[in-house]
Amino acid sequence: MPRPLTRRAFLGSAATVSLTAGLSRAATAEKPVAKAPAPVAAANKTSPTPEWPVWDQREETALLDVLRSGKWGRTSGAARNREFETAFAARMHARHCIATSSGTTALLTALGALNVGPGDEVILPPYTFVATFNAITASFALPVFADSDAASFQVDPATMAAAITPATRLLLPVHIAGTAADLDALTALAKARNLPLIEDACQAPLAEWRGQPVGTAGLGGCFSFQASKNLTAGEGGAVLTNDDNFAHLCYNFHTPGGAKPAASSGRGANYRLTEFQAALLMAQWTRLEAQAKLRDANAAHLSKLLSQIPGIAPARLAAGNTRNAWHLYMFRYRPERFSNLPRAKFIQALAQEGVAASSGYTSLNTTAHVRALATNPHYQRIYGKAAMARWLERNQCPVNDRLVEEGVWFGQAKLLVTRAEIERVAEVIARVQKRSGELARA
Ligand SMILES: Cc1ncc(COP(=O)(O)O)c(C=O)c1O
Repeated sequence: MPRPLTRRAFLGSAATVSLTAGLSRAATAEKPVAKAPAPVAAANKTSPTPEWPVWDQREETALLDVLRSGKWGRTSGAARNREFETAFAARMHARHCIATSSGTTALLTALGALNVGPGDEVILPPYTFVATFNAITASFALPVFADSDAASFQVDPATMAAAITPATRLLLPVHIAGTAADLDALTALAKARNLPLIEDACQAPLAEWRGQPVGTAGLGGCFSFQASKNLTAGEGGAVLTNDDNFAHLCYNFHTPGGAKPAASSGRGANYRLTEFQAALLMAQWTRLEAQAKLRDANAAHLSKLLSQIPGIAPARLAAGNTRNAWHLYMFRYRPERFSNLPRAKFIQALAQEGVAASSGYTSLNTTAHVRALATNPHYQRIYGKAAMARWLERNQCPVNDRLVEEGVWFGQAKLLVTRAEIERVAEVIARVQKRSGELARA
């Protein structure tokens, strides 16, 4: 919960203009909440980085409206889910949107609609959140890891191609950090091998590849509105698609008794978004575009500054990356250009100057959670003990193993700051480099 009045500190910054410029008429026309406290939102008094999520009276009004309507769920004849689905589909140039309770359930809906199940292999990248993997194993399909491209942090399509076997049912690339993976190569691969492509776009609302918003380059795309995401309702998700039949299958899978015309596999679940979440998303929506523009401008400036520091390599963007969501700002850190200062100490030194950074993902394919699948009795029964032992061997990702040692991230809120703060971040990194010999010895 944001602290009262801390918004002022944030709104007093140069970020104010861009962040408030996006107020929609619908939002400002909402009737005021009785006895509403002064609008509060999101900023930390001591840090120029805003607390996340940013919220104010728009969210309070939206939530109270749903509360008072008594229509709290999609099945109560309410309209907020549909309102959000229509807005998100239109903004992302998709024919259909199916709102879900999370990004994980968006993935489960897509996999369920495709009837992905035991015996099927699904190819995913190793540089991703564990949820991508979990959605595959919750369907009892076999996750197969492709390797990363170190310069972009995105999946290397050539290694995805090499991982295809006769059992492959689905390609599941991830647009990590909110930057689209190489959708030219991935869609060509899906077409050539006659495989469906589902984009894990959980971090990538508003991201584009060659001017087209992500999510519909292949059969569909899955999005997350979890608490840290650029568009959030605490939890939530969505599937986008241009395919009418797939949309109906997704709709029917995500809601028991779903009545859209589509053949059924006999499988289903309840993965519906509540009306409260849909209302929150519509309120957050009023700031989305302005926040995205601010992140974009600041990320471009930061990349220009960091590229001048030897040993810091911002994630490379391809020509196709015409717009990025900047859920994360990622760069590689080369200790050899910092007097061999270990990455952990580099991050510590940044923190001491008020610049919070993370070392990012570890090697997902080698975690205890992932390795446990090899001895899972259900998996051994479905795929065979020998095949599950070989599966561990198949999951080698040498490029990613190196990448996870070098990666450093800033969260998306770190980009919702003034240009001066972006310059300070670059100055802090340059200063740490100058002091790196001394820091390495300490
Ligand atoms: C790449 C990726 N895939 C899937 C998910 C799962 O989304 P959720 O947490 O909403 O279930 C997330 C986010 O948390 C994610 O970052």
